[in-house]
Amino acid sequence: SELSDLSARLLAWYDRHHRSMPWRVAPPDRALGERPDPYRVWMSEVMLQQTTVAAVRDYFRRFTDRWPRVTDLAAAEDADVMAEWAGLGYYARARNLLKCARVVAEAHDGRFPDSEEGLRALPGVGPYTAAAVAAIAFDRPATVVDGNVERVITRLRRIETPLPAAKPEIGRRAAELTPADRPGDYAQAIMDLGATICTPRNPACALCPWSEDCAARAAGDATSFPRKAPK
Ligand code: ADE
Repeated sequence: SELSDLSARLLAWYDRHHRSMPWRVAPPDRALGERPDPYRVWMSEVMLQQTTVAAVRDYFRRFTDRWPRVTDLAAAEDADVMAEWAGLGYYARARNLLKCARVVAEAHDGRFPDSEEGLRALPGVGPYTAAAVAAIAFDRPATVVDGNVERVITRLRRIETPLPAAKPEIGRRAAELTPADRPGDYAQAIMDLGATICTPRNPACALCPWSEDCAARAAGDATSFPRKAPK
């Protein structure tokens, strides 16, 4: 089908062009059965919420060197965690990080829930983080929609409704593309596509595995999506 063809081509692109990140398991290692650590996936996604990949890298390394498991973080002093977070901003995230680690350590025996619903029940875990952890750590067919995915989807499908009104339609169009095979790699692939190829200003359409399918490009104006409501 059109949908499975699109997801298969994005996964093939990701196999060649995925970005290496300290919390990721690269596709060749995934193929050998290695799974990402849910604790590391969760921490990276909380850090990445309002912060770039480049800025997160060193913080992620320091946190996971100092507190390698969720039970280590749960046992940390609040002041030590806040001090280690200094510079990342949005300090409510650090407080929730610690609160969540303590719930996982104490109420869940140190293991993260493996479903979107179970993850949503944790402190500070919203729809985005729950979907990201379910997909990336547990290979659940959850659909991850961040700003990069919104841009990719509104261009691919030429969604004329402006943001934020377009969000439900974007969610449906993103969900129908999520494959049953390798949903975790797929979630990271579509985020990488948005971050490195389908960029806001000068998208590298010549390198895009979806260029032939992209309705905005066919109409001659990929960069005019997503539409924004006039201020
Ligand atoms: N942005 C947020 N989470 C990400 C991930 N797992 N991969 C790429 N970009 C991201």
